[in-house]
Parts: sequence; C-alpha cells; structure tokens
Amino acid sequence: MTKICVIGTGYVGLVTGSCFADLGNTVACLDVDDTRISKLKNGVMPIYEPGLEQLVSQNVRAGRLSFTTEYSEALKETEIAFIAVGTPSGSDGEADLQYVRSAAESIADLVDDPIIIVNKSTVPVGTGDWVADVVRKRRGGKALEFHVVSNPEFLREGSAINDFMNPDRVVLGSTEREAANKVAQLYLTLRCPIVITDLRTAEMIKYASNAFLATRISFINEIGNICEELGADVCEVARGMGLDKRIGPSFLDAGLGWGGSCFPKDVKALAHMAVLHGTQPQLLQAVMEINRNQRRRVIVKLRKALGGLNDREIGILGLAFKPNTDDMREAPAVEVIHLLQNEGAHVKAYDPQAMENAGQMFPRLTLCSNPYEVADGVDALVLTTEWNEFKQLDFDRIRGLMRQPVIIDGRNLWDGERLRAQGFNYYGIGRGN
Ligand code: NAD
Ligand code: UGA
Repeated sequence: MTKICVIGTGYVGLVTGSCFADLGNTVACLDVDDTRISKLKNGVMPIYEPGLEQLVSQNVRAGRLSFTTEYSEALKETEIAFIAVGTPSGSDGEADLQYVRSAAESIADLVDDPIIIVNKSTVPVGTGDWVADVVRKRRGGKALEFHVVSNPEFLREGSAINDFMNPDRVVLGSTEREAANKVAQLYLTLRCPIVITDLRTAEMIKYASNAFLATRISFINEIGNICEELGADVCEVARGMGLDKRIGPSFLDAGLGWGGSCFPKDVKALAHMAVLHGTQPQLLQAVMEINRNQRRRVIVKLRKALGGLNDREIGILGLAFKPNTDDMREAPAVEVIHLLQNEGAHVKAYDPQAMENAGQMFPRLTLCSNPYEVADGVDALVLTTEWNEFKQLDFDRIRGLMRQPVIIDGRNLWDGERLRAQGFNYYGIGRGN
C-alpha cells in the first residue's frame, strides 16, 4: 500500500486516482477547481465516464480515496505525487506547461520528505528534466530528496477504467532506476509488460503512439476518399487490410476524422517540437491536413445534395468527439456545425451525453431530446458520432419526418443499401458504390 497524491481530477487524474485506490493504495486527489472538488465530495462526477461513479463511491467509502483543494492536505506523507493536469495547445501548437509548472512549484513549496514526482500528463520531450529544474529552483538552497519519473497514460475516454486496469503496457522513464521501480510496484498487480527507459524516451513513446494512431486514421480516410472516386468500399478495404496480422484491424475506421482533447493537440505538439529542433515533420503535417479536410468534405457533400446550404435545416446526430463521453473538445461535430452555420444553415442536434457542453458552446444550436426530434423537418441528417443508440433507429418514421431524405453517415454506421431501398439519398464516407 502506497500513499499517493494525484494532482488534477480531469479524465486522467480522476481515473488514475480511483483505480490506484481500488488497487489498495491510499489516494488523495487534488484540484484547484473548487466546484469540481465539491461535486466529487458530494459523490457527483464532474465528467461522464462509464463505471466511474461507482468506482469513486466504493473507494471513498472504504477510506482509500479522498478529494481536496488543499495541496498541504493532499501532499501530507505522500510517497508518490502524480501530475495529471492539462497540457493544452498554445497558439503555435506548443504544449502549454503552465499547469505542470504550478503543480511542480506547489510540491516544491510544501514537501520536505523524500518524494517521487510522476509526470502522467502528456508533456513535450525534455519536460521531466525541466520539472526537476523547476523544483530545484523553487527550493532555493533548501534540500529535498526527489526524483522525476515519466509515466505517460494511454487510456481512452469512454473505456478509461478498463484501459487503466488492463493496459497493453506501462511505460516508465527516469534517470533513477530505483524511482522507476518504485512506481512500477504500483502496476505489478495489473500483470502487463512494463517498459522502463529514460525520461525523454518515455515522453516520446506517448507522442509517437498518439501520432501513429492518428496517422492510421488519416491514412484510411485518404484511402476512403480515393475509394469514393473509384467505386470501392473503404469498410471492406479496411477489413481486408486488417486481417493481415502485420497491419491489424484497429484504428482503420474511416469517418469524419479524429478529434478529442489529445490527438489534435499531441500531433500538433510533436510537429512543433520537430520544427523547433530543425526537422521537417512532413508526414505529421499531411496527417493533420487530411484530418482538417475530412470535415470539410461533409459540407461539400451536403452542398451538392441540397443545391446550397443557406436557410437549409440540418440535423446532427452526435456531438461528443466519440461515443461514451460527454467531451466535445475538438469534436468533428463542432467544426461541422460551425461550417454549416457560416453558410446560413439552421442546425439542430442531439447527443446522449454532451447536451450541456453543446449548449454552452453553441448559443444558436437547437438542442433536441431525441433523434426523431432532430429529424423533424430537416433537409438532411448528418451522423457525426456513432453512439450505440443510433445503431437501430426507426428509419421509416425518420423518412416521414424529414423534409428531404438526405443522410450523411459520417461514421459508416448504417447499411447504405437498406437505407437507399427505404427511399433515402444515403452518403457514407469512402463508400463509392
Ligand atoms: P482535464 O482538462 O480533463 O483535467 C485537468 C484538471 O487539472 C482540471 O480539473 C484542472 O482544474 C486541473 N488543474 C489545472 N491546474 C492545476 C493545478 N495547478 N493543480 C491542481 N489541479 C490543476 O485533462 P485530462 O483530459 O485529464 O488530461 C490531463 C493530461 O493527461 C493531459 O496532458 C492529456 O494530454 C493527458 N491524457 C489525457 C487523456 C484523456 O483521455 N483525456 C488520455 C491520456 C493522456
Ligand atoms: C486517444 C488514444 O486512443 C489513447 O490511447 C490516448 O491515451 C488518448 O488519446 C490520449 O492521449 O488522450 P481518445 O482520444 O480517448 O484516446 O479516443 P480514441 O478512441 O483514440 O479516438 C480518438 C478519435 O479518433 C475520435 O474522434 C474517434 O472518433 C477517431 N477514430 C478512432 C476514428 O476516426 N477512426 C478510428 O478507427 C478510431
């Protein structure tokens, strides 16, 4: 049992803290956001993540998990402090490290006993060394025995708890092997491969992994765009490719492209690091450009199908950047709605979890309470997020409600042939036939 502090209670911090508590450790989760912490103290989750509420409540009840806004309280007797604060994109794409700095400085101010500081946030290569410098400078001459370990996180929103508890691997980077070994102890019960390496390599593994996954998606989207012109079906192409063990089936779903709080910022940050150090990240630039175009192609399809977008009514199904989350950061739907509204279209939408976030983001968006309300009177329906509840809709009813029967299936969720037989003008992504 280890005494842990997790700094930042967002998707990563809250899941990390609750899972470590569930594995028997004593965990104090800290955030500077009062509202977030008071919600958590009252058993209310500040984010939607399947299974999280139960995991939090059972570990709070067992006395292993607590929440606070007070650094001094959270860091009391802490052996390992995880920094899991946000690292958003700055204007030039560089990761903004102000929250990491602030967390590191608070540790330096308040801790006198030996401590391991773990960077769980996704941070630019070299940040581990930088954090050590920040702490040393802040201490002035005051001694502190500490080591910095990089422990990037690979969980996905929507399946975060399962991903954390069943990782493909755990990556640890440090100049001090003993410190890395101590953090490794926390993960031993998960029985997964543990890669122990140096700080910078661990930091790069995180960026390279996210950039590679984004590259696979942009690759299949480019193939899909070619399929559309040549009369092939990208879903079948991906299946045929994915059965090759060297290729594998995951992250080959063509669609509106990748969004979320991480792929966009991390690919940008990696490209920025490359340019800063004199290399030309040609592939990364193309990966980002393909992704930007992928959303615009939907607008082109709609314009063509409806003969213009001004004053057209468009219905959007799905707002979150992917199913099983309420997170709308860099969601493809966000750009699609902006582009539609810029062309004078009236947009209405429904999402099972992201309605509150959408209301704050789009004052002119009509929010509906189900897919049929969205379909009512629209000239076209666009599927932007493949939630399970959209899989089996009553399309006869939808056909009756719509003003024009145009469907853009931005995630290739539906059977195009069947919908065409039901009288829809159906357009998938990368399905040329
Ligand atoms: P988030 O924005 O959901 O949460 C960050 C939290 O940190 C916020 O609650 C904020 O109030 C808090 N915070 C900011 N400054 C603080 C400070 N000085 N002290 C204490 N708390 C502070 O972020 P997230 O999605 O959990 O991501 C965190 C990091 O993990 C990022 O670097 C991200 O790239 C990385 N990551 C995220 C995911 C994911 O699925 N979201 C997965 C892997 C890695
Ligand atoms: C992603 C990675 O999968 C995690 O390993 C990583 O920890 C995380 O980023 C992070 O660093 O934050 P996440 O963003 O939660 O996780 O979601 P993904 O399931 O990876 O999906 C990202 C985006 O790609 C979504 O918009 C999704 O719709 C899109 N996507 C995914 C596709 O368009 N096609 C696919 O085949 C797969």
